[in-house]
Amino acid sequence: MKFSRCSALRGELTVPGDKSISHRAVMFGALSEGTTEVTNFLQGADCLSTIDCFRRMGIEIDNTPERILIHGKGLHGLTAPTTILDTGNSGTTTRLISGILSGQTFESVLNGDASIQTRPMKRIIDPLTRMGADIISMKGNGCAPLQINGSCHGKSRLHGIHYQSPVASAQVKSCILLAGLYADSPTSVTEPYVSRNHTELMLSGFGADIRTEGTTASICPDPHLTAMKVEVPGDISSAAYFIAAGLMVPDSEILIRNVGINPTRDGILRVIRDMGGDLTVLNEKISGGEPVADLLVRTSDLHGTVIGGAIIPTLIDELPMIAVLACLAKGTTIIKDAQELKVKESNRIDVVVNNLKSMGAHIEATEDGMIIEGGYPLHGAVIDSRLDHRIAMSFAIAGLAADGETEILGADCVKISFPGFYEMLGKLQK
Ligand code: S3P
Repeated sequence: MKFSRCSALRGELTVPGDKSISHRAVMFGALSEGTTEVTNFLQGADCLSTIDCFRRMGIEIDNTPERILIHGKGLHGLTAPTTILDTGNSGTTTRLISGILSGQTFESVLNGDASIQTRPMKRIIDPLTRMGADIISMKGNGCAPLQINGSCHGKSRLHGIHYQSPVASAQVKSCILLAGLYADSPTSVTEPYVSRNHTELMLSGFGADIRTEGTTASICPDPHLTAMKVEVPGDISSAAYFIAAGLMVPDSEILIRNVGINPTRDGILRVIRDMGGDLTVLNEKISGGEPVADLLVRTSDLHGTVIGGAIIPTLIDELPMIAVLACLAKGTTIIKDAQELKVKESNRIDVVVNNLKSMGAHIEATEDGMIIEGGYPLHGAVIDSRLDHRIAMSFAIAGLAADGETEILGADCVKISFPGFYEMLGKLQK
């Protein structure tokens, strides 16, 4: 797919549903009694992997364009899969399901694509093992495939623990809390900084006794979970590409409707303001237990900033896009405390820095992020997305603000989180 400089982006759009919330709606709906109805579900490949895994464990799921219906069977209603559970490219599916599977009375094997098979699973294997789970990395390399033997004399083998997590990761936190549903006493997780809290908010809606105090989330075992309606807000991580495009491309004005602005996800909005971006938050309301708003962005002269510490987990998936923006902002931008970028769908520090260098950016990788000297023009280049959806989308936007032609290799991978991304972008071009 090829991109070249664009003179203006104008119009209004609605981004697809939030990926994190869509995954959780399927998982928690499956563990609840009754039928959970989900609207604005993200039909991305990652969330379809979650649906497929639960279907293989006996859960009936009707997937239509208007809504999905999950016919839950309660906390103890899953049945043994007869095949490997294929989690595709999805870290969220792999890690959250592992917590659930550790509490079952059957054996299962989880595996995913080449990227998933390199992503660190020791971060969940260690705490789950401390809870009494029987979970192994089948190749002994701390990655998938994972074999999980839930059974212990026909009962769950799990004990409640307090886990001090070395990383701020909602996938790790959620995995442990979900295993905690099947433990014999309460379970809690403390993180260095608060990561996204969709599990806590949504599980509480389904009827779990789950609480948060500071950076600690705690759950009581064996709740009665009841089906509910989930209205998925637009994904702020998908909105990020249009926010950046609206700021970078001259003579632009874009209104993005119905975007989730949960404070554990809204770091990009704070950074844009810090950089001097013209961004207005309109029509704030609560929808389906999550704060949502419309976002209006206009072309802006940006300046550099420092991004690090507690804000990092609230914008972790947006950092590739923010790095591109920083190249066009005047002055220096420092991204630090973001070593988690190395273990995403690709090594996002290396891939972002190398691709931006090939576009002529003044950027250097550091151990925990990158340093960008902004204000120099970007030139078109051939960009290897490494099949990482967020790299493909960030560099498609970079291509709109670069001279010459930018070609994205593996462009189709955007279907992981944003089917229809290129078409939506095309409609804004004037
Ligand atoms: C996610 C959490 C984040 C994020 C991922 C989705 C989730 O990962 O990068 O895209 O749904 O819990 P970590 O929590 O591991 O940082």
